[in-house]
Amino acid sequence: MQVLYQLSDYYKKIINDLVDTNLEVNVLDSIFKKHKVKSVLDVACGVGRHSIPLAKLGYQVTGIDLSPYQIKKAKEDAKKEKVKTSFVIQDANSFYYNKKFDAAICMWTTLGEEPMQYKKVIRNVFHALKNHGIFIIDNRSWEHIPKEREEIIKTSAKLDSGGTFRGTLYDRYTENFRIRDGIINIDGKKYRDLCVTHLLKEADWIRELKEAGFKRFKVYHDYKEKRVKKPARVLIAGIK
Ligand SMILES: C[S@@+](CC[C@H](N)C(=O)[O-])C[C@H]1O[C@@H](n2cnc3c(N)ncnc32)[C@H](O)[C@@H]1O
Repeated sequence: MQVLYQLSDYYKKIINDLVDTNLEVNVLDSIFKKHKVKSVLDVACGVGRHSIPLAKLGYQVTGIDLSPYQIKKAKEDAKKEKVKTSFVIQDANSFYYNKKFDAAICMWTTLGEEPMQYKKVIRNVFHALKNHGIFIIDNRSWEHIPKEREEIIKTSAKLDSGGTFRGTLYDRYTENFRIRDGIINIDGKKYRDLCVTHLLKEADWIRELKEAGFKRFKVYHDYKEKRVKKPARVLIAGIK
């Protein structure tokens, strides 16, 4: 498991510098309203970045994640914010629910990230959805990725203890993979974090969803319905 997903307090502190969670939640909410969604499965939910705000909006949310640290943090924050959610430590590669959901989400380029095995996860989600249920996957677009050069992402945050968290992520890309070599420094103590992500193009994700049985698709570029030539993010909604 990645070191960052064991340092959930720090992870939570840097999220807002990297993503616009409000925008993402608003888009999910508008799609869910169109599809009359009530129950949502958040696959690889992390610290509940989407689960908690969605629960605040009235959805019945179950979040699953492999990391006990992420799940602990998500539970603590849900309690602090007084929202009802269910967070469960669960491997997305092998889960099976009798309960069926109206929708599932897998956000922040996570479906292709090892140790997730996207074919298995898509199949498991398909089984966990009701008929006409919707699976939303959110990925950085393949076209937007700076292939054949290194991309360095620096993050930092002040800790409650008064110290500093610094993360430097060295991302290298090939046609099909992102290889992330991260150095995390917490008050002088260093951790190394390696991570590999499978990069699929929009058409490849749709093919994978089709193979699992999803029938209809809707694509959002940069969280909008209008398609653009080189989007930064691609959100695909597959309907069972
Ligand atoms: C990039 S984070 C995304 C978290 C969340 N979806 C978000 O958008 O904030 C990836 C998450 O995937 C989880 N994860 C990785 N492999 C997993 C697996 N096999 N099953 C469940 N969760 C997994 C990690 O623990 C981590 O919390």
